[in-house]
Amino acid sequence: MCGIVGVIGRQDATQVLLGGLEKLEYRGYDSAGLYVNDQHGHDHLIRRVGRISALEAAVMPDIQGVMGIGHTRWATNGRPTEANAHPQVSSDERFYLVHNGVITNAQALADRFLQNVTLASDTDTEVLVQLVAVFARQGLDTPAAFKKALSLCEGSYACCLVDRLDPLHLYAAKAKSPLLIGQGDGFYVVASDALAMLDRTDQFLELEDGEVVTLTADSCRIETLAGQVQHRTPITVALDAADLDLGPYPYYMLKEIDEQPAVLRRLVSRYVEADSRIAVDPALLTALAAADRLYIVAAGTSYHAGLVGKPLFEQLAQVPTEVHLASEFGYHQPLLAEKPFFIFLSQSGETADSRQVLVNVKRQGFPSLTITNVATSTLAREADFALDLCAGPEIAVASTKAYTAQIAVEALLAQALGQQRGVPAAQAFDVAHQLSLAATAQEAILAEKPTVHALAGELFGDTRDAFFIGRGADYAVSLEAALKLKEISYVQAEGFAAGELKHGTIALITQGTPVVAFITDPATAAHTRSNAQEVEARGGRVLRIAAASLATPDDELVVQDVPSLLTPLVTIVVGQLLAYFTSLDRGYDVDRPRNLAKSVTVE
Ligand code: AGP
Repeated sequence: MCGIVGVIGRQDATQVLLGGLEKLEYRGYDSAGLYVNDQHGHDHLIRRVGRISALEAAVMPDIQGVMGIGHTRWATNGRPTEANAHPQVSSDERFYLVHNGVITNAQALADRFLQNVTLASDTDTEVLVQLVAVFARQGLDTPAAFKKALSLCEGSYACCLVDRLDPLHLYAAKAKSPLLIGQGDGFYVVASDALAMLDRTDQFLELEDGEVVTLTADSCRIETLAGQVQHRTPITVALDAADLDLGPYPYYMLKEIDEQPAVLRRLVSRYVEADSRIAVDPALLTALAAADRLYIVAAGTSYHAGLVGKPLFEQLAQVPTEVHLASEFGYHQPLLAEKPFFIFLSQSGETADSRQVLVNVKRQGFPSLTITNVATSTLAREADFALDLCAGPEIAVASTKAYTAQIAVEALLAQALGQQRGVPAAQAFDVAHQLSLAATAQEAILAEKPTVHALAGELFGDTRDAFFIGRGADYAVSLEAALKLKEISYVQAEGFAAGELKHGTIALITQGTPVVAFITDPATAAHTRSNAQEVEARGGRVLRIAAASLATPDDELVVQDVPSLLTPLVTIVVGQLLAYFTSLDRGYDVDRPRNLAKSVTVE
């Protein structure tokens, strides 16, 4: 999704902005731009469709500045063109603005205030910057004009504004979309993601919705739209910039797949005490134990991790658990239990669909927990409790290590809750040991990459369609494996409950249709094998992936045994690798698939 950077007080502002934009590339974008001003009367606006490299190529060496703003745009309003790229500029060329989010009443604002302005783009962002210019022409100073324009906006925004007549100041504001202010020695930076500026500073100020910031090289004033000054202490973002290095890997996705065993082990040492108790906030356990039903709310891969979490909470903690798509729950809230507790799963902690639900459930007074990979994220800050995935930055758009980390944290939390409630199943389930076994089983698959690569070529080399089938946890992992293949190799893939295939979808099986069958549960293995044979009887090409204790000579991939509640931690690694190699062999940009964004900050 769109990314914002800004800087004031650095002689190398152009390089700071370009470096920041490069680090935001992973979020997904289709055009980019920057504006720099040297505070001595020279300024430049450059925008390009396509990659940051195209923007860099257009930035001549003499384009230098002391302050400026930059943007990567993931098109929402208007196609990805140079005219629609940011910074957007007012008609009088006085104001420059970069913006993330969607201003839902942009048309109404344009109709009301901009009848005499000719818009040069299709963007809601231009409406906002033109409004600032209109109010400035009416006599307001820049901060007042900015605040007046923002107070009229509905929807979401994080934005950064420059007044070229006053390049000693930089302005920023936020509502619903993420934005951080980084504090350096004699300079400030603005970024929608701390990763963008981590090589410049690790001190960040978090903004609340409805706040406006005025920056100079050595001062930062935060106030509400109503003008009330806010005091904020910087937080230290404890991320290692080296985590962003690709090292010997061709793609982040492969690096992140490989990191999964280490992440599981890190989670065990982070959350499991010497006496095997789970180290989570006692207040969180008390709040969870008071609930009569858990509601896991998430999107995409995180939703799939939630599906794996449901039986963990139901079996280990004996608490009924529902899993909901955030985008559906937000506007179709089901009838809730008497004492609901909400668990938000989100790698980024910024997903707008999930945040919309969080805001609603908080308004209704229900307790909430966010499980996220970004401790400083909006969802982490706004929920009553937060648990860290400890997975390290996930850069590839396709989520891998965050998915397995989410399942592991769910397992740890389910055991903690089960222990708290005195559930015998939880007392007997040694989650630390099971997660260690899963890490070893993951390593065994990672050692089989050449085999998986060959299978990916044979099954998916030139197919348009594919199916992944299984029952129970194997069904949940089928959904995730199919999403991985869709996202990065553009194969029409379906995850399907193995027993449901014969109720209609089997009509799609023709000669050679690739079907991956996950078989890890003794209770359903025979049935899934029957379903696989039904596919083969119609010409389908079935790849069977089975747990060692259930394996037969037909199984082309065998994974080490782990408890059936945790098998997705292991089987998904096969799914991830199948998707990775298919995308690689088809020559796609594995880390940056078309149309997708890493952090989905619009509804
Ligand atoms: C997964 O590969 C995708 N990037 C996507 O489905 C993602 O999981 C979804 O957008 C939710 O994101 P979140 O976990 O950051 O909330």
